[in-house]
Amino acid sequence: MSNSIESTLVETRVFPPPEGFVKQANISGRAAYQALLTQADDDPDAFWGQMAREHLHWTRPFTQVLDESNAPFYRWFGDGELNVSANCLEANIERGLGDKEALIFEADNGDVTRVTYQALYEKVCQIANGFKQMGYQAGDRVIIYLPMSVEAVAVMQACARLGLIHSVVFGGFSSKALQERIIDVGATLVVTADEQVRGGKNLPLKSAVDEAIAMGGCEAVKHVVVYKRTGGNVIWHEKRDIWLQDLMKDQATSCAPVAVNAEHPLFILYTSGSTGKPKGVQHSSGGYLLWAKLTMQWTFDAKPDDVFWCTADVGWVTGHTYITYGPLAAGMTQIVFEGVPTYPNAGRFWQMIERHKVTVFYTAPTAIRSLIKAAETNAQFHPKSFDLTSLRLLGSVGEPINPEAWMWYHINVGGERCPVVDTWWQTETGGHMLTPLPGVTPLKPGSCTTRLPGIAAAIVDETGADVAAGNGGFLVIKRPWPSMIRNIWGDPERFKKSYFPEELRGYYLAGDGAQCDADDCFWIMGRIDDVLNVSGHRLGTMEVESALVSHELVAEAAVVGRPDATTGEAVVAFVVLKGATPEGEQATLIAKQLRDWVAKEIGPIAKPKEIRFGDNLPKTRSGKIMRRLLRVVAKGEAVTQDVSTLENPAILDQLTKAV
Ligand code: WT7
Repeated sequence: MSNSIESTLVETRVFPPPEGFVKQANISGRAAYQALLTQADDDPDAFWGQMAREHLHWTRPFTQVLDESNAPFYRWFGDGELNVSANCLEANIERGLGDKEALIFEADNGDVTRVTYQALYEKVCQIANGFKQMGYQAGDRVIIYLPMSVEAVAVMQACARLGLIHSVVFGGFSSKALQERIIDVGATLVVTADEQVRGGKNLPLKSAVDEAIAMGGCEAVKHVVVYKRTGGNVIWHEKRDIWLQDLMKDQATSCAPVAVNAEHPLFILYTSGSTGKPKGVQHSSGGYLLWAKLTMQWTFDAKPDDVFWCTADVGWVTGHTYITYGPLAAGMTQIVFEGVPTYPNAGRFWQMIERHKVTVFYTAPTAIRSLIKAAETNAQFHPKSFDLTSLRLLGSVGEPINPEAWMWYHINVGGERCPVVDTWWQTETGGHMLTPLPGVTPLKPGSCTTRLPGIAAAIVDETGADVAAGNGGFLVIKRPWPSMIRNIWGDPERFKKSYFPEELRGYYLAGDGAQCDADDCFWIMGRIDDVLNVSGHRLGTMEVESALVSHELVAEAAVVGRPDATTGEAVVAFVVLKGATPEGEQATLIAKQLRDWVAKEIGPIAKPKEIRFGDNLPKTRSGKIMRRLLRVVAKGEAVTQDVSTLENPAILDQLTKAV
């Protein structure tokens, strides 16, 4: 376990929730929180049943809340039926919000498009009717490889309307990664765009789909629907490809939602694990949507006149839950942003908050840290140069937020009046698990604080026994919850082994090390497996290793994380070539070749920040690579551990010098 960002600041102050905030909060004051917590702990079935009846529209009411008969394959609201898209669109139109803005889209170049709930409904229906006409039916899998856009949200919603199972692939992933996901999920339809626009540049997307399909194994794909974003050049496959705009043109603007079982998979989203192959995390319809909506109300204190902005991409779970589903289920107005935080300059986020009068802002520590640097070197990009008084609540997600970044965010962006909710959760959890409630929880910079009502989070040892307050251990969730992962697509054995190891008494194992203090506040210490967190993105070391060894020059590779002041962790690769170990300019050249190779195999986010070449890797006599030592070397620290069990201790010297 490693704490990725080493803090120089130890902030021990506690920030109580501002009185003004408490007064108006959806959950206001400790007693209200405690009551929900107790209610959920004492009778989970009654609690979740009541929440699901109150917050969702069911076309067929459920009679059973939780079915544990086939644990850990839990079923929630298992005989109920609903439609997720109708819960996000019709439900709001019927309560008079048709003319309310659902999405305010700001393009990379600053152009703004406003879409009301009624207009979004019509767009979603036209797309759904198009898909239906092409013959797609509930249960079919759709790969979505789209840039941040109104269309991305609408296509996901259109899938939900028909019961099609979407699997969004982040636009930064390579054609190889795309091909693997198309095959694993068995997609018959792919939706993409001609190009994406980021930071003033047009980047191809459609050509990556063409490449992925040409690699083979994707024969099941019948159509590629292409959203024309830029009008850039594309190669067209007459029988297979169709423009999204053409598909929608003559379609009716209403489309009956298909009622699905609460357990019907809403989506599959791939995430990295500790082995080479990414896992297809399968989520449900009913339980997932319930938690997406509830956490909007609890964590983000959703109010009718809020302008919500989550800066994530819909390629990640944050964009699923807190862009496509949660804010719409809660009837909010939200910003959808196409671009990057540093274009045209590092003031972009603050300028957009001012322009759109954003009230609730949700971003990642890595973005904050990179903007701190820019703001502290150029006052023009400092949040203080903008009017950010519309803000009332700030959120953080994806990695531990170091106290320096927390304090800067709190003071300079939040003007010391906005609570900061540091939300801990995962692709697998579907929504927030540990987080402050802004009208309840005293904030401790660096801690994601307390568990949400209904979430039985705890710290245990390797036998599943509780550890005392203040001691480190495994973060587990002892009872199932509605938005939990249902399966790993096509691999139920891996699902059981990864998340419900027998020795942990059937608890959900999150994969994070953590501790819980005497105030029931959780402190995340880092992953316990070979998973890195680079800029809030999960990356398996084995995944990067597999990519490296698939290069013709490489004999062996070991990948570790190193703390990085901006990205949290950085990828460092130790590589043994088949030929002689390169030095000087040759080493630089091959390192560049290998970095580009990894970008091609996985995507630019997986590129090693540093590659060190050696004649060998430090191994035990039984041949196990000593990653623990490599982590020390990667940090640039001296190895003080006992290395007498190593087969080849001299290799450490070589790797230490090989910078
Ligand atoms: C891993 C999950 C949550 C959606 C985005 C990432 C780390 C996430 C926090 C936080 C400390 C955090 C954990 C977790 N993580 N949020 N607030 N404090 N660590 O989802 O890609 O599935 O990654 O991100 O290590 O296990 P993900």
